[in-house]
Amino acid sequence: PFFPVILAGGKGERFWPLSRALRPKQFLSLDGSSRSLLQATADRLLQIADGWENLWVITSSQIERGVREQLPSLPSVNLLVESQGRDTAAAVAWASLEIKKRYGEEAIIGFFPADHWIADQEAFARTLSAATQLAASSEAIVTLGIKPTFASTGYGYIEEGEKIGSFDELPFFHVNRFTEKPDRETAEKFLSTGKFSWNSGMFIFRAGVVLKELHTHAPEIIEPLEQQGADIYPQLPKKSIDYALMEKTSIAYVLPVEFGWDDLGDWNAIERLLKKEDNPNVELATHVGLDTQGAVIYATDPEDVIVTIGLEDVVIVRDRNVTLIVKKDRTQEIKQILKTLQSDS
Ligand code: GDD
Ligand code: MG
Repeated sequence: PFFPVILAGGKGERFWPLSRALRPKQFLSLDGSSRSLLQATADRLLQIADGWENLWVITSSQIERGVREQLPSLPSVNLLVESQGRDTAAAVAWASLEIKKRYGEEAIIGFFPADHWIADQEAFARTLSAATQLAASSEAIVTLGIKPTFASTGYGYIEEGEKIGSFDELPFFHVNRFTEKPDRETAEKFLSTGKFSWNSGMFIFRAGVVLKELHTHAPEIIEPLEQQGADIYPQLPKKSIDYALMEKTSIAYVLPVEFGWDDLGDWNAIERLLKKEDNPNVELATHVGLDTQGAVIYATDPEDVIVTIGLEDVVIVRDRNVTLIVKKDRTQEIKQILKTLQSDS
């Protein structure tokens, strides 16, 4: 069977003040539906995983309780709790070790971010079926490539190499090069060649294959974990799987996908998702606007009323005792200002 693991330990700071320490982004519903991003991710994976007993989640101790509350059917033994977040390389290494211990080297594992939006569930399932077939039949680290639409500096870039074959009519290619979060200039160069896709952040492989690759390229992470277990966690280097493994491995493959994808990175993603032709603003609040356009307006309390006059391209978020007002093109800087705010709870 196939063992999907949800990576659910990030903080999602760019959705502050809605996301705060104990209520990070993956616990929120950002599209107005009743399921949080984490729950929606689990729903989607359960369609291909064949029951809760095959689904795993790795998260940090800080938000463990929230994860249990949100996913009450997840078996306790499938919830890995990190004493401290050490970024995704350690998370991938630990979860892969645990799954290998229980199911052996041939177990097929997939890692999935907890905070993505996916439009077409059926196409997603078809792609995953092809990806697991590829992982089962070769020594492969399988990535899913998204057609890029602009020179983003927030994603990994995958350069497509030779076409190797196909499963269920979905072609796959060898990866020539993987570059995590390039600078703007490099991203533009990549884009202009037409040969690059964005890394979706989902990875599929066999337990034995990824562990071998980690031994070769990230021994500083896998060896302590193997020898001393998860107690060593706080001493592990903080590195993402993209830098620790993907930029180095030579057995990466990419399946170009077209299931409609968005990394819900910051408030602007809400606009991409929810913008309606007939409304100049995206309103997740009671909003009365005069001469206001291109605004994203959110209020947690349905009784709050937000009134705007003569505004353009702003994000306004009201949550409990905090109100955020920011120009749309500067939402990335929320992370910075959070560092100067002492008493965020
Ligand atoms: N368990 C655990 N522990 N999960 C973590 C940790 C950790 O320490 N740190 C991050 N995560 C989770 C996040 O919650 C998220 O679901 C996922 O891992 C990816 O982490 P991000 O921090 O969101 O990564 P990113 O968006 O900067 O970059 C990654 O995703 C992009 C696509 O969205 C990379 O893989 C990029 O190459 C990729 O393009
Ligand atoms: Mg992300």
